[in-house]
Amino acid sequence: MDREIAVSLRGVSRSFGETRAVSSLDLEIERGSIHGLLGPNGSGKSTTMKMVMGLLKPDAGVIDVYGKDPQRDPIGVKRIVGYVPETPRLYEYLTGLEYLDFVADVYGVDPEVKEERIYEFLDAFGLDGRENEMISGYSHGMKQKTALIGALLHRPRLLILDEPLGGLDPKSARIVKDILQRLSGEGVTTIFSTHIMEIADALCDRISVLYNGEKLGEGSPAELREMAGRPRSTLEEVFLMLTGADDVAEIVDALMG
Ligand SMILES: Nc1ncnc2c1ncn2[C@@H]1O[C@H](COP(=O)(O)OP(=O)(O)OP(=O)(O)O)[C@@H](O)[C@H]1O
Ligand SMILES: [Mg+2]
Repeated sequence: MDREIAVSLRGVSRSFGETRAVSSLDLEIERGSIHGLLGPNGSGKSTTMKMVMGLLKPDAGVIDVYGKDPQRDPIGVKRIVGYVPETPRLYEYLTGLEYLDFVADVYGVDPEVKEERIYEFLDAFGLDGRENEMISGYSHGMKQKTALIGALLHRPRLLILDEPLGGLDPKSARIVKDILQRLSGEGVTTIFSTHIMEIADALCDRISVLYNGEKLGEGSPAELREMAGRPRSTLEEVFLMLTGADDVAEIVDALMG
């Protein structure tokens, strides 16, 4: 048994008023794996990620991130996690380089390696040459990439990416996928949410399908197909089947991103 669990949630629930955003959720995420949270709008993906990051307090249940409780040790958790929220808030009146330099300092990245690491990522994402412009003038995708770089600079052990590929062009999405796969090989764990089935299929070791705050199913993409009794179907068909056809309007929203 050398299966090492990096992140676990047991019986985690969170409501907002009458809305039960996450309901008795159990998750075990293996170290070095890429775990996708898949589900229609409002199914609790972002709420789950924020609780793992320690930004929202669960009403019930226990969360463990590499042996740390995000509520009891918020700084300890943030130190080992890289997080990109759905709508990253960057300092618009800094340049990309100033922002990344600032983030690297906040995370205590060794000044000796800081600049090299920043430029490596700027280069990889095709942002080199634009680093001295103000973020307020960046396109949506450029902001997204800058936020991603900011989350990677301190070499986190866990990446929490809330729809990281949404604003990215195919080449940039491919770069992110390659980076995530390489990091996975180095033992870095990733949790990410997506509505894009092909991405979940190609990238995830395991997928949890969330719906109304509950986990409807979990497995590798192949296992999910088996579970739905449709080994040859697309993940999209499995997803639609799991989440029920009675809610098509909402599901269509989710699929269109
Ligand atoms: N701060 C909040 N205040 C009130 N309700 C909230 C809040 N955050 C989330 N919710 C509710 O919790 C439920 C789950 O929301 P959540 O953002 O986790 O969904 P999601 O799966 O990330 O959806 P999407 O695909 O649209 O990003 C929704 O009904 C949402 O309205
Ligand atoms: Mg969300």
